[in-house]
Amino acid sequence: MRSLVMALLTGGMWLFTTSATAQLDHSLVVGPDACVDCHSAENDIWAESTHFKTYEELSQSDRALEIAEALGVDDIEAPDGTCVGCHFTLTGETADEAEPIAGISCESCHGAAADWIDAHGQYPGEDAESESPAQKQQRLATAEAAGQIRPQLIHKIAANCMDCHTVPNEELVNTGGHPAGSKFELVSWLEGEVRHNLFWSNGEENKEASPERKRIVYVVGLGTDLEYSLRALAKSAAAGTYRSEMKSRVEAATVKLKAASGAVSDGSISAMLAAASGLNLAEPNAAKLKTAANAIAKVVKKFVVTADASTMGKLDGLIPEEGHYSQKY
Ligand code: HEC
Ligand code: HEC
Ligand code: HEC
Ligand code: HEC
Repeated sequence: MRSLVMALLTGGMWLFTTSATAQLDHSLVVGPDACVDCHSAENDIWAESTHFKTYEELSQSDRALEIAEALGVDDIEAPDGTCVGCHFTLTGETADEAEPIAGISCESCHGAAADWIDAHGQYPGEDAESESPAQKQQRLATAEAAGQIRPQLIHKIAANCMDCHTVPNEELVNTGGHPAGSKFELVSWLEGEVRHNLFWSNGEENKEASPERKRIVYVVGLGTDLEYSLRALAKSAAAGTYRSEMKSRVEAATVKLKAASGAVSDGSISAMLAAASGLNLAEPNAAKLKTAANAIAKVVKKFVVTADASTMGKLDGLIPEEGHYSQKY
């Protein structure tokens, strides 16, 4: 019972968090080694990614040391410090015991796993064939209720990426000189070095998402970028680099959503644009921006379950293709 309540609480916080750091509940983190036995192919891909490498490389990087120095941060890896929430995974029963064990890892994206790891991958009999469709649905629903961020929860996935990738921390940007977020487009950022869609081919093939899924992911990515850029702008206390970069993010996401809206007339896309129209971005009013962001979140969430991607082929011309996928390594 306690763990279910915890999962519901943390599940809710994931969606609505506006904190500068997307920190997991470290007491529920089991660490990537707990996934390898059953997901070694996914693990091999992750081990080549920027997310993995930041664990070893961040504290060796001159750029990181410059940022830390400008902020008066002595220890980049300090468990209660500014950097760990976005660059590392912490584990530990209590705050005193919490320590970084990896970079951005499986659970940073799929949710802290203590309450769902057993439930999600255990068939009632020997193998997948032994399970009825109703049992399968039940198993996946149990894992989701216990906090697993599953592939079909596209809005939760996107919100989670954006919580780190908009870098909603004014001091980090203005005083530290840290990048003010990434030029993040969800299809290309998922299909590049992050892609690990191998499970159903037993590690043989790392499949791209279907054209239909990409259309949904594209619109959700733009809507969520707009939502999180508004949330970030709402946190701005003063004029400066942070404010102008976040304003530019809002404008860029709006331009792209307008293009999507021009390609396919869809009520949800127009509703996202309507929620963000008429806001004063140069002198942001935090309450108004948050109201707009909450309204967009609601529409995006609904879009994921109601949109008919088969009628949205005209989006394909806007969606980045292979050759434009995000590949740092
Ligand atoms: C004991 C084996 C086992 C372990 C350990 C394990 N998994 Fe799985 N996982 C599975 C199986 C089996 C499936 C396929 C479930 C199905 O039939 O949909 C799966 C599916 C998944 C999915 C897709 C779920 C969906 O709804 O489609 C994700 C994401 C996932 N695992 C993540 C993880 C992560 C992260 C860890 C470590 C914290 C982990 N797994 C540990 C066996 C395991
Ligand atoms: C809110 C999340 C967040 C926090 C907190 C954070 N970072 Fe980052 N950091 C990011 C993201 C996202 C990127 C990737 C930006 C990009 O796409 O260029 C990044 C990139 C970097 C880079 C590479 C920059 C470059 O110019 O290539 C360094 C170095 C870095 N961070 C250092 C730090 C240090 C040091 C701290 C703590 C003082 C810190 N970060 C805190 C999210 C964060
Ligand atoms: C950067 C975020 C991120 C990280 C890190 C990450 N995943 Fe995923 N994972 C996703 C997303 C998003 C999907 C859904 C597929 C998609 O949209 O590309 C997914 C899909 C999956 C699936 C189902 C698809 C398949 O065929 O395998 C499994 C299983 C999985 N992840 C396991 C893992 C494991 C194990 C790790 C760590 C070794 C891991 N993931 C690390 C974001 C992540
Ligand atoms: C816990 C915070 C966090 C989450 C969640 C997260 N990222 Fe990242 N990501 C980072 C940081 C920090 C970096 C930069 C690390 C560095 O350069 O040291 C990064 C780097 C990347 C890169 C490498 C390319 C580049 O230019 O930096 C890709 C691609 C990426 N992230 C995609 C994703 C996607 C897609 C998701 C969601 C499915 C996601 N990330 C979720 C923190 C996060």
